[in-house]
Amino acid sequence: MTSTAMVQAARYALVTGASSGIGRELASILAREGYALVLVARRTEPMGALARQLAQAHGTPTVVVGADLGTREGVDAVVQEVEARRLPVEVLVNNAGYGLAGRFDELPADAQQGMVDVNVTALTALTRAFLPGMRARGRGRVLNVASTAGFQPGPLMAVYYATKAYVVSFSEALHEELRGTGVTVTALCPGFTATDFATRASAHARPRLFSGPLGVSDARAVAELGVRGMKHGRRLVVPGLANRLGARMAPFAPRGLLLRLTRHLNAQEE
Ligand SMILES: NC(=O)c1ccc[n+]([C@@H]2O[C@H](COP(=O)([O-])OP(=O)(O)OC[C@H]3O[C@@H](n4cnc5c(N)ncnc54)[C@H](OP(=O)(O)O)[C@@H]3O)[C@@H](O)[C@H]2O)c1
Repeated sequence: MTSTAMVQAARYALVTGASSGIGRELASILAREGYALVLVARRTEPMGALARQLAQAHGTPTVVVGADLGTREGVDAVVQEVEARRLPVEVLVNNAGYGLAGRFDELPADAQQGMVDVNVTALTALTRAFLPGMRARGRGRVLNVASTAGFQPGPLMAVYYATKAYVVSFSEALHEELRGTGVTVTALCPGFTATDFATRASAHARPRLFSGPLGVSDARAVAELGVRGMKHGRRLVVPGLANRLGARMAPFAPRGLLLRLTRHLNAQEE
């Protein structure tokens, strides 16, 4: 655990999964917007480098917390670090997450359980830990990174799609619960985006989808839209017209057809 300069009076944004990809971009945009940062992931080195870069560019105070959010201890360590430093977390970005492609009955059980632990359990626990402070202050923002995968079942990535369906459902419910409190919850639902996600998800099988037949989004552009939607207190942000159409149409599409099409896209390339 390291920290660069720290200002108690600063407004803090806590970003999980800030060591790469969309989370790294979200952190850098929030620094540009004037937030001090708490960066969380397992790899501290890239977060330390980002902290130094943002300190130079914007004078951003940053606390780097190395934690495995797949464990209860990791989640508790993040909460304890924030409480010990008395950091007012005004923005919580639950971005850490990963996917794994392949048949449910063939993929390693622990890695699949890990997806639930990181994508669902840690996200829920961190939200529960930081919402009361936001309520007490009468202002706050939660940005949960879901996916277009959250709008439909995903054969050959069954657990990943199910975790993201949870994130969409949970975020939309909280958005409504918090109406009128000054605190909002936004679900950011990107389609396929160029990050380390695909490499990590392809350890056992590489889906056709990862070759970009439905397009590939840019992580910075996705993050910009996410932060903008979060600031405006939007319930859902789906970057990209094709992704928005897909998300709107999924509930009305014949289920069997949707399942077969998704299975085709998630299947290993020939
Ligand atoms: N890329 C896409 O196509 C896409 C599309 C829709 C949604 N998403 C979602 O976007 C979010 C960010 O993914 P990305 O695309 O930016 O992929 P990425 O570059 O692989 O980033 C994933 C981040 O999550 C962190 N993370 C993973 N497991 C963790 C753990 N056990 N404990 C703490 N941190 C952990 C990683 O940090 P460490 O490895 O250092 O711990 C990393 O910072 C994820 O929730 C993903 O599901 C991605």
